[in-house]
Amino acid sequence: MGKSPEKHGGRRTVLKRGSRPAQGEGVCPASRAASSEPCVQMRTQVRKGSDEARERHGHEPGGVPGEFAPMRLQKFLARAGVASRRHCEELIASGRVSVNGQTVTEMGFKVDPASDAVALDGDPVSLGEAPVTIMLNKPAGFVTTMSDPEGRRCVADLVPLEQYPGLFPVGRLDCDTTGLLLFTNDGQLGYRLAHPKHHVDKTYVAHVKGRAGKKQISKLRRGVTIRGGLTSPAKVREIGSTPEGSILEITIHEGMNRQVRRMCSAVGLPVLELERIAMGTLHLDGIRRGCWRVLSDGEVEELCKAASLGE
Ligand code: URA
Repeated sequence: MGKSPEKHGGRRTVLKRGSRPAQGEGVCPASRAASSEPCVQMRTQVRKGSDEARERHGHEPGGVPGEFAPMRLQKFLARAGVASRRHCEELIASGRVSVNGQTVTEMGFKVDPASDAVALDGDPVSLGEAPVTIMLNKPAGFVTTMSDPEGRRCVADLVPLEQYPGLFPVGRLDCDTTGLLLFTNDGQLGYRLAHPKHHVDKTYVAHVKGRAGKKQISKLRRGVTIRGGLTSPAKVREIGSTPEGSILEITIHEGMNRQVRRMCSAVGLPVLELERIAMGTLHLDGIRRGCWRVLSDGEVEELCKAASLGE
């Protein structure tokens, strides 16, 4: 049963041995004291991942997320969608490609996409935006949209759109749900992560009204009927309690609208607070509420694997 009392989301809570402490208390360089006050975090250093992941995510060893590092000319052309890499080599060899006005026929020639002007038959060739994926610790009270006609606060206000244009949220969290929300400008990755068929586990901590009994927990584990459909089996455990009821950790891979709230209500345990703490192997650890950070290549690689992109 419960151990030492802790503060969690403004309630006195008792967390069980082995359960995680309150989230959103990590280090934020922007050092804003109030956890409800949004802050912007500087981009992190790129850690080493596999070449495959770097290739897919658009930057090379030592590169910076959201920016392309120098790369070989044939790769540049292929990535810009000119042709296959082999065909691009033929184009280079035949003298049709120039860099900064000079024809280049050398195959290993490196170009810097940030500063070099590449042209094919005199027509400029460019790469567009480099893919980047960031993780936000969403505060309550923000709708998951990039703009809101009703003027409500939306998650777009919390992410660095000027630095990384084209970011969009991967899936959604309810206005009152807090925690891990991914943004990417990589359409394929976003689609795969949000699609239930790709089975990316999402883990939530739910404060519910009422103490969860064994029967309720096993019903949640087996699947419950919400809106006429049976939910897939879930991982559910009680990790603590509050004066109002239980704290449940629930892992699902589907993304039905208000799924966790509906599942808990279906077994008589209305949700009082809901936080998403993990997606796949990615955990919110260390990101304060309202803060974000760029994912490393290794983290993107893990997500790709979870979403079957790595196969
Ligand atoms: N399930 C919910 O009920 N709400 C969320 O925001 C996410 C999952």
